[in-house]
Amino acid sequence: MGTKMSKAGKAKKGAAASGKSGGGSGGNDNIDIKLDDKYTSKAGGGKLGIDDFELLKVLGKGSFGKVMLVKKKGGDDTLFAMKTLRKAALIKRNQLLHTATERNILQNIQHPFLVNLIYAFQSDDKLYMVLDYMGGGELFFWLKKHRRFSEARAQLMGAEITLALGALHAGNIIYRDLKPENILVDLEGHIRLTDFGLSKDGITGPGAEGGTKTFCGTPEYLAPEILDNKGHGKSVDWWSFGTLLYEMLCGLPPFYDTNIQKMYHKILCAPLRFPSYLSDNAKEILRGLLQRKVEERLGSGPGGTDEIKAANFFKTLDFDRVMAKEYTPEFKPPAGRNDTDATNFDLEFTTEKAIDSVVTTHMSETAKQKSNFTDFTYQNEGAMGS
Ligand code: ADE
Repeated sequence: MGTKMSKAGKAKKGAAASGKSGGGSGGNDNIDIKLDDKYTSKAGGGKLGIDDFELLKVLGKGSFGKVMLVKKKGGDDTLFAMKTLRKAALIKRNQLLHTATERNILQNIQHPFLVNLIYAFQSDDKLYMVLDYMGGGELFFWLKKHRRFSEARAQLMGAEITLALGALHAGNIIYRDLKPENILVDLEGHIRLTDFGLSKDGITGPGAEGGTKTFCGTPEYLAPEILDNKGHGKSVDWWSFGTLLYEMLCGLPPFYDTNIQKMYHKILCAPLRFPSYLSDNAKEILRGLLQRKVEERLGSGPGGTDEIKAANFFKTLDFDRVMAKEYTPEFKPPAGRNDTDATNFDLEFTTEKAIDSVVTTHMSETAKQKSNFTDFTYQNEGAMGS
């Protein structure tokens, strides 16, 4: 979530707010929060609430709420990231659909390289999502700090991201918002994708067919077919992956310009150039991913994700071993003095007192809000009894 260094997060939120999330400010918006019954309530009685958690640190803040480092009371010492979202703010900025999408995706897919949902619950005023804690913070932070990564480091991170996108695509979900701010690092140096608010589910086919024309995303990473307002499908994620891999290897996205109009123009038609230090295998995969013709882009064929995995750039990796986290990442973020240090997060937030702040809304709003958030409560089966 938006730390001070999240340059693009704000732009994204603004674009998303104008998306098609069903208008209205708390009335009957007919918001479809698709829920799988098996996740909505826990066996053995009782619903979780904020009082079941010890709030340790503030990790980040955004327009809808904050992310805190928490621990479950009476459980083991496992740390979680708790994302709180103010319902009134979501309704006001038309973010209900995005929140529902995020929650649906999180509760339906568990994957080693996706930030998993462990618990979810709500009060009258807020939604709470309890997620895997990623103690290394944002990949964006490390990329800016180290300027660019070695090919070995980018290779393993790239392989983990490929598996994460492959899992989403296998569930017919297009991520659409791949950028360094949405990639979190754990204290071992492995990554997980987060922030599924802009993802679209229920879209089939690897190419441009069946796409959606809603414009959301950060310009740097947007595929040309999105800028051109043509329908777009899963291949947009492989383009974004190409820009991200390029940025990891070279320090800046391939078509970067401080002027947004110029950047749009470059994404649509500037030639792809590489610094001289890049290996042939790196150039080859980047050319494949950053192919403007969707049908020729790596990953858009019938093989889908397998086309990416088969690239020479990844030939020294065994993807089963990547999945099992058997490769040790070259870089391990500093752990701090103890687990709850949150040393890789912005002091601006971590020095703040971790509290569940009171929301001041008109009471008349409360009942309306509640009706839009029914069935949010969730407990991951794996976490039962902890
Ligand atoms: N910020 C947003 N989500 C997070 C998470 N799961 N872990 C750490 N920081 C986060």
